[in-house]
Amino acid sequence: MLKRNGNRVESLRRRLNRVNAVRTRVLDEVKFIRSWAQNPLRTGAVTPSGPDLAARMASFLSPSPRSRVVELGPGTGVVTRALVERGFAHDHLNLVEYSADFCDLLNLRYPGMTVLQGDAYALRATLNKPGGFLAGNAQQNHLLDGIVSSLPLLTRPEAVRHALLEEALELLKPGAPFIQFSYGLAAPVKLTGRGVSVISSEWVWKNLPPARVWVYRKGH
Ligand SMILES: C[S@@+](CC[C@H](N)C(=O)[O-])C[C@H]1O[C@@H](n2cnc3c(N)ncnc32)[C@H](O)[C@@H]1O
Repeated sequence: MLKRNGNRVESLRRRLNRVNAVRTRVLDEVKFIRSWAQNPLRTGAVTPSGPDLAARMASFLSPSPRSRVVELGPGTGVVTRALVERGFAHDHLNLVEYSADFCDLLNLRYPGMTVLQGDAYALRATLNKPGGFLAGNAQQNHLLDGIVSSLPLLTRPEAVRHALLEEALELLKPGAPFIQFSYGLAAPVKLTGRGVSVISSEWVWKNLPPARVWVYRKGH
């Protein structure tokens, strides 16, 4: 009798967890659509990335005890979750997000993680804010183990995208990856810098729309 009651409680708990997960996903989609409606070019997509794409992005990084990884454009935190599931601790990550609403959500969802409200295209200045990896030492280079970006890069001119990549590669340790997804056929930033390489992943067909992950590195 006691065992049967225990099983029923467990099954109810599992069902409740499933309902909560669906509710969270739907609420995130609503927040995303609202953000897109307010500023389509900045939000860049109508729905959050799927978990397969997020996991593929995270797969290019491996945690170590003192990792420093920056996520650009976390939105509702799908890629953030994949990074946490990959083994990154909250204090390994700095999240850089423009939208104040998304920042509030990320602070609630990932307590203890540094969420920097600011512009990813002024990366050094944004990471110099209190709590950021560059706080108090804005000129430091080769500090980061990875940068993971979901920014809608193609809404910006080529020169702006190129400047972002250059700044990111200066901040990354030699050989550390700048990871960016895109829905397009061509690399989102053309290679012009010496010693910079790019590879792309296979298509992640389960994502809607299907996407690929591009990984830029310098000096390895
Ligand atoms: C395509 S969404 C990606 C959200 C989430 N990472 C995902 O994959 O579902 C782009 C995100 O980048 C943010 N963003 C756009 N421009 C930005 C900028 N200049 N600096 C920081 N965040 C920016 C948007 O607010 C949005 O959250």
